[in-house]
Amino acid sequence: MKFKQALTVIAGIALALSLSACGGGGAGGGGASTPSGGDAPGDVTIGVAMPTQTSERWIADGEAVKTGLEAAGYKVDLQFANDDIPTQTQQIDQMITQGEKLLIIASIDGTALTSQLQSAADKGIKVIAYDRLIRNSPNVDFYVTFDNYKVGVAQANALLNGLGITEKDGARKADAKKGLTIEVFAGSPDDNNAGFFFNGAMDTLKPFFDDGTLVVKSGQTEFEKVAIMRWSQEGAQKRMEDLLTSTYNGGKEKLDGVLSPFDGISRGIITALQPAYGKTIAEGLPIVTGQDAEVASVKLINDGVQSSTIFKDTRKLADQAVVAAKAYLAGQEPTANNTDTYDNGVKVIPSYLLEIDTVYKEDIKPLLIDSGYFTQAEVDAGVAS
Ligand code: GAL
Repeated sequence: MKFKQALTVIAGIALALSLSACGGGGAGGGGASTPSGGDAPGDVTIGVAMPTQTSERWIADGEAVKTGLEAAGYKVDLQFANDDIPTQTQQIDQMITQGEKLLIIASIDGTALTSQLQSAADKGIKVIAYDRLIRNSPNVDFYVTFDNYKVGVAQANALLNGLGITEKDGARKADAKKGLTIEVFAGSPDDNNAGFFFNGAMDTLKPFFDDGTLVVKSGQTEFEKVAIMRWSQEGAQKRMEDLLTSTYNGGKEKLDGVLSPFDGISRGIITALQPAYGKTIAEGLPIVTGQDAEVASVKLINDGVQSSTIFKDTRKLADQAVVAAKAYLAGQEPTANNTDTYDNGVKVIPSYLLEIDTVYKEDIKPLLIDSGYFTQAEVDAGVAS
């Protein structure tokens, strides 16, 4: 991502939103426009807890949320937790003791924050779950994310299209082959999103399993069997290498495609596959899907290595988190566009869901470059500047 450009856009949007909030109403919700505690934004610090800096997307998310909040006049305490649960709980504890007025949290383990959220609620601190739902707590106030089931559907459709079974619009091709061999991967079992992605994908692939178009040769189709803890690239590479040994005669037997839920996992899978099948799809590398449009994977798509990814525009997600935060701090309720999907085990959390896009090679320019998400140079290098 070209940060400066993205941040300028976000700052502009945040400013526009703050001006529109002065006029009353707007996407932030209705009601009074006086800050609840009477604090000026400049006196208010917002805690932003992100899971890790090992994945490019969370760095972009953290920076985008911070910039949007600062543009609205708030102070921001942005923390990354290195994918370590105790680090994240400690960071959130500290945010609460320091008197931060609102928390925006992308959790590592969605079930591990119950006591932190109770302390927050006791102090009247609103909590916005960012992209990942926080489970088993009554004290999650709002959830901003993408339509996660649809992400899974889009990943399955991209796999089917990449395998030549369907057209881009999902219509089955008359000359589609039968008996194509695939393997399936899922995300981290402690991340609520992973189940949504997997269910969306497997529901979409089911008719193709049922009529013999697709076969999972290892037989491993249970979520628990195929899930990769912490979305780890190394974990995915290891599982793919093990599958090649156990099921594909070390890579001498045909494998047509792999359902992957996240670009980091895709890169691990691709690393495992390349020595056996070739460097690019044209050379025989299986079709591999992805998610997040991380720049390293966008380069792989551009180079004909990874087949597709799902673009979730982190600029828009950050904007929504800022809109919701501003609403709460002005004593209003943020506006949800979904109030029935995300049950966290205690209650259904009002949510704002954003739309996603599938990216194949031909979509890189219109979706990612022309929108300023990346520059051509960043895609060519596979690194964000
Ligand atoms: C999920 C998120 C995905 C991906 C994954 C790994 O929670 O929805 O987009 O980023 O984490 O970081």
